[in-house]
Formats: sequence, C-alpha cells, structure tokens
Amino acid sequence: MLIKRRRGWELPESSATPESVYLNRRAVLAGMGIAGIGLSLPSLALAQAGAARNDRYKLDRPITPEKLSTTYNNFYEFGDSKNIWSTAKDRLKTRPWTIKIEGMVDKPIEIGIDDLIAKMPMEERLYRHRCVEAWSMNVPYTGFALSALIDMAKPQSGAKYLIMQTLADPRMFPGQREFYYPWPYTEGLTMAEARHELSFIATGLYGKPLPAANGAPLRLATPWKYGFKHVKSISRLEFSDKRPQTFWEKLGPDEYGFWANVNPQVAHPRWSQATEKPLGSDERIPTQLYNGYAEFVAPLYADLKNEKLFM
Ligand code: MTE
Repeated sequence: MLIKRRRGWELPESSATPESVYLNRRAVLAGMGIAGIGLSLPSLALAQAGAARNDRYKLDRPITPEKLSTTYNNFYEFGDSKNIWSTAKDRLKTRPWTIKIEGMVDKPIEIGIDDLIAKMPMEERLYRHRCVEAWSMNVPYTGFALSALIDMAKPQSGAKYLIMQTLADPRMFPGQREFYYPWPYTEGLTMAEARHELSFIATGLYGKPLPAANGAPLRLATPWKYGFKHVKSISRLEFSDKRPQTFWEKLGPDEYGFWANVNPQVAHPRWSQATEKPLGSDERIPTQLYNGYAEFVAPLYADLKNEKLFM
C-alpha cells in the first residue's frame, strides 16, 4: 500500500497454528458457553464462540493459521509495518466503544458495541481476503450481515452510499499523529453493495473476539474487494447521497479507487494482480475475478461499464 516507501515480504513462515488447534479451542469455548455461564466468560467471547457457521460461503483452500493472520496486518493507525499486532493489542481500548449512525436517517443512532452485538443475528463465515499488495488469507469471521445493521438504521430512500470511518483518537492511534495521512480512515460502499448478502461486519475471528490488529471491535469484510476497503475499528457510519473520497483514494487516486473490485487482469500501476501469495505458503496461486465471488456479485456491476470497477 505504501505511497512513501515500500517493503518486501515480511512473512513469519514459522510457528503456524494448525487448524485443528483452532477448531479444538473453538469447541472448548462453545462448551463453556453451554456449561459455564457462571464462569462469567465475557459476553462478547460467548457471542463469537456461540455463532453457528453459515455454510453458504465456502473456501477452496485451507483456513490460514491464526498465528499468521493475526500477526501480519495492515493498520496504519499503528504504523506502516506489518508487525503492529502487539502495539495494537497494548493501545487499542475497545470498551466503552460507541458506534454512531447518522446522515440520511430519520433518527440518528448511538449504540454501544455490546448492545449492537446483542441485537444482531450473529453467524460465522469463512471468507477469502485478498490484499491489493497481492497477499491473501482465508479466515473464519464471526459477526453479522451489514444489511442487518442497515435495516436497524432505516436510511432514507435518497441515500446512495454508506460511509464508514475508523475512530479518530490520536492518543490511542499513534499513526493518527502523522499529518501526511487523511485521517480518519474512511471507506464507502454503494447502498446496493452495502446491502449485498456478502457485506459483513466482523466482530470475531477464529471463534473469539476480533484481535486489536485485525480491527477490533468491529470491521468491514467485503471479500470480493481488495482488503483496503475493509475499514477497521469502525466508530461512525453515515448514509449519504454523495460518494465519499476514501482514505487511499485521497493518497493515491491512480492506484487505489473507490470500487477496488478484485480482477487478475487489471494490474496495479506498479505490479501485476494476476497471482497472489497465501500467507504461510511458498507458492503463488492465480487470483480470481471478484476474488472468486463473481457468481454472487457480478450482477451488482452489470450497468456500470463506465466506472473504473477494478482499481
Ligand atoms: N483499516 C484501517 N482503519 N486502517 C488501515 O490501515 N488497512 C486496510 C484494511 N483496513 C487498514 C484498514 C488494508 S490495506 C488491509 S489489506 C486490511 O485492513 C488488512 O486486514 P487484516 O490486517 O485483518 O488482514
């Protein structure tokens, strides 16, 4: 992503957690949910562990080891290295955490993260994730369909876009003191995209609350788009009739556009998008149109031929 300077691969190839360990841990947590309410396991942990997997969304490769997907991250609020997980863990405070929903709604909403989770239909989904930098991973997110939040918010009929922003708090996010960047991190979707069944708000990963580095306490997942659309640590949503200029679009409009749909045939100005490197793997594999979700999302774009859909 770097505009200022670029880094090579920094993959920690060693110390992978096998999937079986994740699965066992999940079973243990779920078991505690049934047997051990008296143990006062935090309600958020229970909400993630108890969410049933939705089998509609399938992977064609194994789940990425947890150790890799939670320690190799992009989260510029904590710096421009991939290795920000421990800083993020130490600094990001996710309670209390208020989410504001405003703009073109009859009644703006302010709701705490735990109240929001209690209202939403929690489920687990296995999603592919393809970063514009050409690395990828497969992860089990828990959370809820973005459409459920939109139904709760009741946007006005004139709303055309949903804008989502990361919390602005330079004390918590040291990167936000870097004035070079257009904080707060802002992303947006058309209403049709936001309501699409694949658009997901993740609050958990591997059956546990989302780690700080992955965007706790809630982040977007739109798996047919490059990962920079997946705004982390969201604190504000706004319905609007104007297309927002997004964080990366402001920094590099020729490299990172509004649509950012994955397409192996449309190269980034500085590198090919034809293949990708799964985290923890030595091979490069072919990238798929819409990251493998064309059957779900291609109809969204049927009438938008003049837009730069793939950057
Ligand atoms: N959200 C915020 N607030 N700040 C960021 O720097 N990076 C984006 C996206 N969301 C980013 C963000 C990019 S470039 C990617 S690839 C994904 O988060 C990475 O998500 P992951 O760390 O869970 O893999």
